[in-house]
Amino acid sequence: MNTSQHITPRQLFFQHVAQTSDFPLALEIERAEGVYFYGTPAASAGEATYMDLISGIGVSNVGHRHPRVLAAINEQLDKYLHLMVYGEFVQTPQVRLAHALAQTLPASLSSVYFTNSGTEAIEGAMKVAKRYTGRRELISCFNSYHGSTQGALSLAGSEAFKRNYRPLLPGIRHIQHGRWADLERITSRTAAVVMEVIQGEAGVRVPEAAYLQAVRQRCTEVGALLIFDEIQTGFGRTGTFWAFEAFGVLPDILTCAKGMGGGMPIGAFISSPEIMGVFRNNPILGHITTFGGHPVSCAASLATLQVIQDEQLYADAEAKGQLFRQLLIHPAIRAIRGKGLLLAVEFESFAVLKPIIDRALEQGTTGVGVLTDWFLFCDNSMRIAPPLIITEDQIRQACAIILEAIG
Ligand SMILES: Cc1ncc(COP(=O)(O)O)c(C=O)c1O
Repeated sequence: MNTSQHITPRQLFFQHVAQTSDFPLALEIERAEGVYFYGTPAASAGEATYMDLISGIGVSNVGHRHPRVLAAINEQLDKYLHLMVYGEFVQTPQVRLAHALAQTLPASLSSVYFTNSGTEAIEGAMKVAKRYTGRRELISCFNSYHGSTQGALSLAGSEAFKRNYRPLLPGIRHIQHGRWADLERITSRTAAVVMEVIQGEAGVRVPEAAYLQAVRQRCTEVGALLIFDEIQTGFGRTGTFWAFEAFGVLPDILTCAKGMGGGMPIGAFISSPEIMGVFRNNPILGHITTFGGHPVSCAASLATLQVIQDEQLYADAEAKGQLFRQLLIHPAIRAIRGKGLLLAVEFESFAVLKPIIDRALEQGTTGVGVLTDWFLFCDNSMRIAPPLIITEDQIRQACAIILEAIG
């Protein structure tokens, strides 16, 4: 008997949607627009307004339901949805997006393989690097996060996340992001170094440009490929379209996802035609996806890229980040790290931070709750990564709410 009419969505969520923690946020959202969510508060009636300071997470760079993204989706809906598995048909939204991505990058990064997510982009990047170099060893960083499928999880720099899922991929070694001495561990056995330009889940750790340049140099010396994971930092988040632009370093392979789709699922790994060419033979179809580069996601992504470029959203990200830094001044705040609109606001401990996050989400005197978060590997720091379209007034409002929550 179907009794679901008598059960609330909240009850269905807890009964039937597989849970990944014992304390999900469980916000019920009716609609979203710009930097706001509108929904039903758990405890009372009426509509609740939340300001989204984390972009769910790192996705809504152009805001929720950007009109140009919606228009592109609608236009594509009238033409076709899925047609054929990846790489066989000439699908206009896909080729136009590949071209537009290549235009943002140097000629050595002009071959784009589309995926459905960030972790799949990493899987593809790992495979192509192993195949191209003929080497097995991969190096990643402590406290890195690259995704939850087993290959990407093998790269993760946290034993706690991996322990109960072993055996994972062999041949993975870890180095400390920013520690020069560890560069010696990159050798002629290394197929690739997989690295976030700015470590996100480690609590937004921005390296010195000279360090990334040294990583590049070491990789070149020993014939290892450099893979930059820009899944969280790409698409304008840190003040340039790609974070690596600010460091004067080029990777051999670039991965992106999250903010790329303007709210639709899509990812990509991007390299040179020569490197990517290894998938063409021995065996043919060296990497297969049914849905990767879905035409509707590609249409949304192209509109997203154009909005970010036309509105120069990356240029404003730095100034907006600075405004957060100017406003978030309180004795409980120990430091603010970050670049552009990817910020970590450090408190003494998780025990201090968690009630602040909870109070900011409750609608205080302003009637607006602010959604923030902490980081996977840095639980004393508040994540602030709002849509890049956030206005100065909205930043002031958000900071006032956070300061009230601290108080
Ligand atoms: C740097 C980085 N790489 C990879 C991923 C995995 O992306 P996805 O969740 O789309 O698989 C994430 C997700 O948080 C990420 O932050």
